[in-house]
Amino acid sequence: MYNYYSDELIEEVRINNDIADVVSEYVKLEKKGKDFFGLCPFHKEKTPSFCVVPGKQIFYCFGCGKGGNVIHFIMNAENLDFIEAIKLLAERARIQLPEGDGSGEQEKAALKREIISINTEAARFYYNNLNSRQGEIALRYLRDRGLSEQTIRRFGIGYSTDEWDLLFKYLVDKGFSEELILKSGLVIPNKKGGYYDRFRERVIFPIFDIRGNVIAFGGRIISRTADKSQPKYVNSPETPVYSKGKNLYALNLAKNSGQNKLLVVEGYMDVISLHQCGIINTVASLGTALTESQGRMLKKYAQEIIISYDADTAGQAATLRGLDILNDIGCNVKVLRIPEGKDPDEFVRKNGPKAMQELIENSITLLEYKAGILKNSIDTGTTEGKINFLNKLSDLLVKVDNNIEREVYIKKLAKEFDVNEEAIYSEIYRKMRPRSSFRKVTAADAKKESKKTEKVEDSGIRHDERMLLALLCTDNSVYKKVRDKLAGLEFTGDENRKIAQIVLARLEDNRGLVAGELLNLLEPGIADEFTRIIQQECNCEDNYKAVLDIIKRMEAFRLSKRQQQILQLLGNKSHLTEGDVEKLKQELNSILLRKKSL
Ligand code: UTP
Ligand code: MN
Repeated sequence: MYNYYSDELIEEVRINNDIADVVSEYVKLEKKGKDFFGLCPFHKEKTPSFCVVPGKQIFYCFGCGKGGNVIHFIMNAENLDFIEAIKLLAERARIQLPEGDGSGEQEKAALKREIISINTEAARFYYNNLNSRQGEIALRYLRDRGLSEQTIRRFGIGYSTDEWDLLFKYLVDKGFSEELILKSGLVIPNKKGGYYDRFRERVIFPIFDIRGNVIAFGGRIISRTADKSQPKYVNSPETPVYSKGKNLYALNLAKNSGQNKLLVVEGYMDVISLHQCGIINTVASLGTALTESQGRMLKKYAQEIIISYDADTAGQAATLRGLDILNDIGCNVKVLRIPEGKDPDEFVRKNGPKAMQELIENSITLLEYKAGILKNSIDTGTTEGKINFLNKLSDLLVKVDNNIEREVYIKKLAKEFDVNEEAIYSEIYRKMRPRSSFRKVTAADAKKESKKTEKVEDSGIRHDERMLLALLCTDNSVYKKVRDKLAGLEFTGDENRKIAQIVLARLEDNRGLVAGELLNLLEPGIADEFTRIIQQECNCEDNYKAVLDIIKRMEAFRLSKRQQQILQLLGNKSHLTEGDVEKLKQELNSILLRKKSL
């Protein structure tokens, strides 16, 4: 599936990174018997359901179902793709990987390096502008907004003059090619085949990645000179080194705060202002709703994520979805509301860091926040409104999967919103009960139902096939005994067929294959399921017998499918010659006999 590095090399990397060692760099593990348990890093939980099985070199979470070998763990934990995970683990185990084998990987890395050096050069240029005569107006603006010399330096803030192509010329002088400068996003082609600077007459905020490389810029208009038709902020476009939803402004600084909370604000100035007054565990999402990839970055550095957005952005659907994403990947999400619709920058400048810290301490949980929005959107003065509110509130509460936590919420919310606790409870129970089955079954229902069972059967056999492959990998000795029976076996679905091909060829060549290595072949989604099978189901008393049973089921499935096909053909005889009909009937007979003998 991944043919960038050879299978042997991938396996060498896997074997040289013991899964328990690697995971324990991320999760506090406790030994129980042969295995280790801990709190799952991939979803929110209070009691450990995440386990690492050194014997099989796999991890699996009984709570969220994530599983795999050490490579999948790193992919999930570090938010990396397969190749990147291999690179990280190879480095960790000091295994030398071959460099770029024609797949363009090396060229891509070189391009990124070059763009970063252009960006670094540009950042220097802007910074020097700010401190030149032309930059006076910008420097005064920043001073007026309360920024100190030290803060300006720390964030590398600069200024782009009002000339059309000053930066472009500067970069050309430095020896960068036009093509490369264009790729950096710092210039825009004009109609005459030339280029002009993207940022003009703006205060410039360099955007850094986690390692402190300059990957993009934001430019703010200076109020005094503001032309109303211009946007307040201009940002770098997507480039080979920058994509918007994958970065958080100032995380390179905030990650060193030594706290287990991170505060997420909207804008550059909010971050800078808060950092200046010592609240350095602050990052900005830069005006977009949070993405899963940002969520994973946040989760890596903090247990609690506090969101402080403008009242109007915070309530927006996209923002709320962003918060749900954070919650779903297991972040403990809280919401901070700033009084009087101010933004954090204004608030902290007016009220000082202590008042800001207090707000942080008093931030509310996501659920409380949503309940508040609900209350504001419904007129609970009427009976109808009250019922509606209760109904929607209990929708929120049903999703809380911890009973004690839910109870605490109910108490709190009942008081806060002046509704009866009992009423909330009964709404919740009503919603949690499975839907009543008193319903007339229509023909359409029956049809749907039969389609559904077909699907269920298919997924049943797919699971059987995976179990078969997993068993062969946990116990290679079985292969020889069932070799002949496997020869004619058909696997359903491209995925299983592909995996089976590889597994069977390996075993046929006497090269052996262990479960952990089988997982090398799999993308994270399928790896989860295979791992679950390996962990929970491959504990048979007799592997040989288990494999035989599955082979029987697969054979029976194949026969039944063919039987259905034949019956369908026979049902429409007009298309068939008598000879065909006879042949099909014979085949049907032999199928029935075969099925009996299974
Ligand atoms: P705000 O409009 O709240 O600006 O946008 P701000 O951060 O308070 O800026 P100041 O204090 O007036 O200088 C919040 C963030 O949204 C993005 C920027 O990242 C900004 O910091 N934004 C806003 C844009 O990208 N483009 C815009 O036109 C406006
Ligand atoms: Mn502001």
